[in-house]
Amino acid sequence: MIDIFIDDKKISAEENQTILQVAKANGIKIPHLCFHPALKPSGSCKLCGVEVSSPAGKHVVMLSCIIKVKEKLEIRTNSELVKTTRTKAFNKLLQMAPDSLRIRNLAKEFDVAVIPPPDGCIRCRLCIRVCNEIIKAKALKMVKTENGSMVVPEPGRCNGCGTCANLCPTKIIKVVDLDNVRTVSIKKETIGQLPLERCEGCGTMYATINFIKHVEETTHTHPDTKEHHHLCSSCIKLMSNRAATERERIKK
Ligand code: SF4
Ligand code: FES
Repeated sequence: MIDIFIDDKKISAEENQTILQVAKANGIKIPHLCFHPALKPSGSCKLCGVEVSSPAGKHVVMLSCIIKVKEKLEIRTNSELVKTTRTKAFNKLLQMAPDSLRIRNLAKEFDVAVIPPPDGCIRCRLCIRVCNEIIKAKALKMVKTENGSMVVPEPGRCNGCGTCANLCPTKIIKVVDLDNVRTVSIKKETIGQLPLERCEGCGTMYATINFIKHVEETTHTHPDTKEHHHLCSSCIKLMSNRAATERERIKK
């Protein structure tokens, strides 16, 4: 038997044991994922790093599942050096398995702040820019949170046009038309919920009342605007084709 020190506590250990085995046997917790008692250690996950002080006074992080104990070895399981290495190791694993609850729960248990799970938004701001610059509804904004910046709705401003959803490259913004109501949402948050208007031509619900009003208000001064129709895109196309055929007929 030899004596080692883990977090300043003197512990007796057998010489061929690893640091992780000794820590486990003495109720000292070290995070680990790739260690299995029936298999040879592989040092793959890098979560089990501990700070080891060499006789020359150097402090290095070593994998506790691999390194065997030696007489008078001094080990720290929660030093600043260990915490930094551990955080890096957790984040590296989460880049490969971002939705792994086991890794996230283990990080929580050891008080490690890790990267948040991906939310499907690439922060291109196309939704915000089109809503501000073209639609002018200003229904979306970017806010800073503890998990980084995020796109969030500005309550009561959406007119339900759906342009943000059309432009969103990852399709994280959704438009759902149900029971004559359009709901525009981002992740679990509602951007707008507005009643739909019926097309005068075919009767399908085609756009929100608020958006039609917005179009009328913003285009009524345009020299090409003669009158406003409440028609869906298919009926407008049909009407334009008919008008073109009629013009051709008159020309002949
Ligand atoms: S929600 Fe879509 S459009 Fe908006 S910033 Fe994220 S990825 Fe870009
Ligand atoms: S337990 Fe994975 S590297 Fe040690």
